[in-house]
Amino acid sequence: MRMYDIIIKKRDGKELTTEEINFFIEEYTKGTIPDYQVSALMMAIYFQKMNKRETVDLTKAMVNSGDTIDLSKIEGIKVDKHSTGGVGDTTTLILAPLVAAAGVPVAKMSGRGLGHTGGTIDKLESFEGFCTNLPIEQFIENVNNIKISLGGQTGNLTPADKKLYALRDVTATVDNLSLIASSIMSKKISSGAEAIVLDVKTGSGAFMKDLDSSFNLAREMVDIGIGMNKDTIAVITDMDQPLGFAVGNILEVKEAIDTLNGNGPDDLTELCLTLGSHMLVLGKKAKDTQEGRNILQNIISSKKGIDKLKEWIHMQGGDEKLVDNPDLFPTPKFVTAISSSCEGYVNRIHADSIGMASLVLGAGRETKESPIDLSVGIVLHKKIGDFVKKGEKIATIYANDSYKQTQATAMIINAYDMIKEKVYKKPLIKGIVTKNDSIRY
Ligand code: URA
Ligand code: CA
Repeated sequence: MRMYDIIIKKRDGKELTTEEINFFIEEYTKGTIPDYQVSALMMAIYFQKMNKRETVDLTKAMVNSGDTIDLSKIEGIKVDKHSTGGVGDTTTLILAPLVAAAGVPVAKMSGRGLGHTGGTIDKLESFEGFCTNLPIEQFIENVNNIKISLGGQTGNLTPADKKLYALRDVTATVDNLSLIASSIMSKKISSGAEAIVLDVKTGSGAFMKDLDSSFNLAREMVDIGIGMNKDTIAVITDMDQPLGFAVGNILEVKEAIDTLNGNGPDDLTELCLTLGSHMLVLGKKAKDTQEGRNILQNIISSKKGIDKLKEWIHMQGGDEKLVDNPDLFPTPKFVTAISSSCEGYVNRIHADSIGMASLVLGAGRETKESPIDLSVGIVLHKKIGDFVKKGEKIATIYANDSYKQTQATAMIINAYDMIKEKVYKKPLIKGIVTKNDSIRY
């Protein structure tokens, strides 16, 4: 088999066989096919697309390119959640203890990654002492004992995806649904998920800016999951403004604590109840999403969720006393309010700009090596549909550097778009994609 022939075949719009897909993934992982040939193939796929069968085969080949994590010693159905990314998304910190308290095993493998804020691992490291590299045996034992544990990614998972994603990034071939969907799903499946709830974000702060492409990505990922015998559903949710109020690591941890105490922002709480109820159904702990929602609401009001968070932090060596005393988390040097210079209704909040402001403050990583500052970030006080008086606070900025603070302040002011006419709040949940259905609300 020759890579040249595979490139021609796809260039001319033909379907690749399973053997051809396996061949190029295996050889590329080994390093026997050069980047320039794989770039050409990626561009051919970008223009000619892949069908469902090819996409499932590509996902399988990427899973098989490296190690897979064996979670078979964990009792119960391992349900994982994946979000396609947004700004200020704190859901994992809330959902994980909630569904664990309902009896669904949460064996979470998280990365640090790049972004506007750190990943779940970074956020959990806000609890001094929290250990993220438990040996796999300890990780499994913790899930069996208390239903929840977080491990750093160990082993060589989906090396083909690592190489391909980096190559696509510099060859303008990221934006293809089959390539995105197989990239995300291969990572989930290799880390041991048996059932998957996807949160596909849509809007200005999301990867997919419009509703149609978000539904298409959801369909593609659900089909891959089903094609690999994993129960999979996707919820399409709004990312036209940041989720919740807080963007930043410790700030989001505090927001998660509030939410588990029943005092969280409405949108964040609603998202957690929606995604969580689907996780309970897939994990066979609820017969339908209504029952799942009731169970989760009960877990919040009875404090079982917040207790699960404390138990989890304690088991991984972190200081769980901070959960009851969030004021003890470190605060940065400068905490300053931003006031509105005009009056009106908030029409839009450009989530991307808020994310960039968070990055400028030092809450996220620009390159893999950059350090992150856990204490900095932004708390919004006004969201879409809110009325703002002149001089009223729209946000508070947490900074350790006055120059960065000035830069971020300008970005936040620019992110707010205000108009005189009344603006109505938009629904957060836009629809759902299941094996057989695609429903728009
Ligand atoms: N996220 C991924 O992990 N892969 C993609 O291809 C795009 C987004
Ligand atoms: Ca948030």
